[in-house]
Amino acid sequence: MVTDALDDLMHLAKRVAGIDLAEGKRSMVGSRLAKRLRVLGIGIADYARRCHQDPAELAHMVDLLTTNHTSWMREPAHFADLEQRVLPAIAKAGRRRLRIWCAAAATGEEPYTIAMTVRRALGELAGWDAAILATDISRRALAKARAGLYDAARVADLDPGDRALALEEVEVDGERRLRVRSALRSLLAFAQLNLMGEWPMQGPFDVIFCRNVMIYFDTPTKERLVNRLAGLLAPGGTLYVGHAESLNGLTHPLRTLGTATYAAT
Ligand SMILES: C[S@@+](CC[C@H](N)C(=O)[O-])C[C@H]1O[C@@H](n2cnc3c(N)ncnc32)[C@H](O)[C@@H]1O
Repeated sequence: MVTDALDDLMHLAKRVAGIDLAEGKRSMVGSRLAKRLRVLGIGIADYARRCHQDPAELAHMVDLLTTNHTSWMREPAHFADLEQRVLPAIAKAGRRRLRIWCAAAATGEEPYTIAMTVRRALGELAGWDAAILATDISRRALAKARAGLYDAARVADLDPGDRALALEEVEVDGERRLRVRSALRSLLAFAQLNLMGEWPMQGPFDVIFCRNVMIYFDTPTKERLVNRLAGLLAPGGTLYVGHAESLNGLTHPLRTLGTATYAAT
């Protein structure tokens, strides 16, 4: 019975969020849900029933099963490409409008790194209409992203110049933390969004980062997603996926530009 309920919850997570939890993840799922079961004072079978009946609990369950691992400047070649190729080309074309979507923003390090890169490349952005949309399915992760507060250890690998551009020291509840500067925050809007659901945005986006989330999806889900992302890119726009997420074998209209970097035609 317990195994059936766990299976049921794993199927639900796949149906709702595309998260394809292999057999080997059974114990991870059990341990991630254990605390919630204790809080609610119910067993796994009752919990599975509740998730079928209560959309809010279902969303909570899916959130608990997400893995939000991320870091500042993760896979740095993409930020170098953004700074040295994409942003100068947009500026050179005389355009003063920039739209970037970070589609699996987790706890914020990735969209803030994007904002930092934009500031570094385009300075004060005087006269620009620039916006970065940062979305994720996980409300827990997004709450941390919105707070924009990080421990020094989380930014230890960041170049000192980047650190000074992006972060300021603050004291929160008697502890020293690093807070993202308002010059970066002002570029960002955070919103909850399930990549498997409806997307309210029209696009087009000059750049989409959709990195290290497709590893959780099966091949048909990935293919559908990549085609939807391609449909929201401006002509010549760039899609970055995770370095371990090649789109080889998927049918899509994008052109390969470099490592995990694709362009709309
Ligand atoms: C491993 S993190 C990657 C974070 C960041 N993109 C990076 O590369 O560092 C994966 C993120 O994808 C999010 N995610 C998983 N399924 C999703 C879905 N169906 N829709 C939107 N976000 C999803 C998770 O909540 C998690 O924050």
